[in-house]
Amino acid sequence: MKRRPFLLRVWSALGLLLVGGWSGFSLAALHRAGRRREAPLALDDPRLETLEPGAALLIEGWWLRREDEGLLALSRTCTHLGCTLAPAAGGEGLACPCHRSRFDAAGQPLSGPAREPLARRHLRRKDGRWVEGAPAG
Ligand code: FES
Repeated sequence: MKRRPFLLRVWSALGLLLVGGWSGFSLAALHRAGRRREAPLALDDPRLETLEPGAALLIEGWWLRREDEGLLALSRTCTHLGCTLAPAAGGEGLACPCHRSRFDAAGQPLSGPAREPLARRHLRRKDGRWVEGAPAG
């Protein structure tokens, strides 16, 4: 094969690899952004009324903890590859059964392959329900 056609094929292949990689990266970023724009969270589980400060409950895919001004809800979806998190054994936070990522009580990654913090929502009491972002009352 002559040199010029060979180099043209090599550069074409590299160009396709770059475009393919960039497309995959962009789609992953769009997917992550889409997950963050979910509908506002609203809960009315009666167990939330008696939740003590520092205690946590698992409700509807969320790990809920009482805060001074309401509730903190952490998503139970691992930011590595999406496995469902469980309360960490012997301590605060959440642990992933798939690849052993661990998150603290604020949703920050502590160890394992996950690098992104968990999705989090702040809930306030309003009209008999716990709703995202509503003023206390
Ligand atoms: Fe959770 Fe991999 S999916 S650590």
